[in-house]
Order: sequence, then C-alpha cells, then structure tokens
Amino acid sequence: MLIAVRRAAAADGAHMHALTASVRPARVPEDMDPAAGFLMSLHPAETYSRRAAASHLCFVAESASGLAGFLTAYPASLCACWYPPDSGYARAMAEAGPDSVLLDQIAVSPAHRKLGVATRLYDAFAAACGPRPVVLDILHAPVANLSSLRFFRDQRGYRLLRESASSGFVYGLYLAPRP
Ligand SMILES: CC(C)(COP(=O)(O)OP(=O)(O)OC[C@H]1O[C@@H](n2cnc3c(N)ncnc32)[C@H](O)[C@@H]1OP(=O)(O)O)[C@@H](O)C(=O)NCCC(=O)NCCS
Repeated sequence: MLIAVRRAAAADGAHMHALTASVRPARVPEDMDPAAGFLMSLHPAETYSRRAAASHLCFVAESASGLAGFLTAYPASLCACWYPPDSGYARAMAEAGPDSVLLDQIAVSPAHRKLGVATRLYDAFAAACGPRPVVLDILHAPVANLSSLRFFRDQRGYRLLRESASSGFVYGLYLAPRP
C-alpha cells in the first residue's frame, strides 16, 4: 500500500478531526480497547487546522483512500498560547525546559495499522524536532492504552515522569529518551 507522509496543513483539519472521532471511545470504559488504543480528546476541526498551520511538527500520512494517520506536536512557545499556565501540560513543559515539545496526538486508522505508518509519522516528527525534550501523556486508568505504551515506552524508550489523576482518569506523563 502506497502511503505518503508530509507536513500537515490547515486543509487537513477536518480529516484529522474525523479520524480522531473514529478512534475516540463513545463509552468509557466499555469501548476502550487497550490493545487497539484510543484518543481521549477530540478537538474541533478548526483547532486541528489552526494548530497544523502554526506548528511545523504536525504530520499526516495519506493513502489513495484518504488520511491514514496523523501526528500533532507543538513547541513550548505555542503551548504557552493554548494551555493555561496551571494546566498539567504547561507545568510538564516548564519542567522539561523552554525548548521542549509536546507530542499531543498520534493516530492511525484501523485499516492502516501494523504497516509502519505510525513509525513513519514518528520518524518524520523526530527528524524535524531534533534533540529537544519531548513530553507526552498516556492513559493508565481506568483502561491503560497498551498500544501507546508499547509504541512509546517499550519500543522508543520513553520513561514515566509521574502519574496525575483528574476526573476519574489517571494519565502517565512520559519524557522521550535523549537522542
Ligand atoms: C498506536 C498506533 C498509533 C500505532 O500505529 P501503527 O501504524 O499500527 O504502528 P506501526 O505500524 O508503526 O507499529 C505497530 C506494530 O506493527 C509492526 N509493523 C511495522 N511495520 C510493519 C510491517 N510493514 N508489517 C508488519 N508489521 C509491521 C511494528 O513493529 C509494531 O509491532 P508490535 O505490534 O509488535 O509492537 C495505533 O495503534 C493507533 O492509532 N491507536 C489508536 C490511537 C492511540 O492509541 N494513540 C496513542 C494515544 S497516546
């Protein structure tokens, strides 16, 4: 299957929104499949468009049938505009340093999984990001995102900094290994 990875653009926002909607559990925790993974936050299409246009660290993977996957990541300077200073993300990035990067979302459509699409998206992101510290969070409870833990923790060496609990959810905050 031919899949092309490129920088995301504003025009991709509606497709990123639709893909996220398709991997977001409708019911918590019933629809949360730990092996398949899931995204918890669904941004409006306009937010995906605006953030893709603003950040050079957002990528999409396209197949002949449309969007196969995407990755969104933002430098600390943009996060400071989008997240309140007392938010978990803002605090994590303050700790990680002024040049840190938040890897916000990565998703591949179920039809395109286990083909290396996420690996290609991540590699494109890592090349653009360089040696800057990368932080991300992964759901630990009520259902652990085992798919994401395998991808980031087990295969790429991300290490747990701490857990935080909010509204019945427990997230692990992870930091990328130094290159
Ligand atoms: C996590 C996720 C992004 C991985 O996407 P993916 O495109 O399937 O990932 P890859 O194909 O790069 O790697 C997955 C597996 O396929 C294997 N693989 C890669 N290329 C392959 C190929 N050409 N042929 C066969 N297997 C391959 C990888 O080695 C890996 O193996 P593993 O399952 O034993 O660990 C995807 O499962 C997803 O979108 N989940 C829902 C959203 C989500 O949970 N996001 C993370 C939120 S924190």
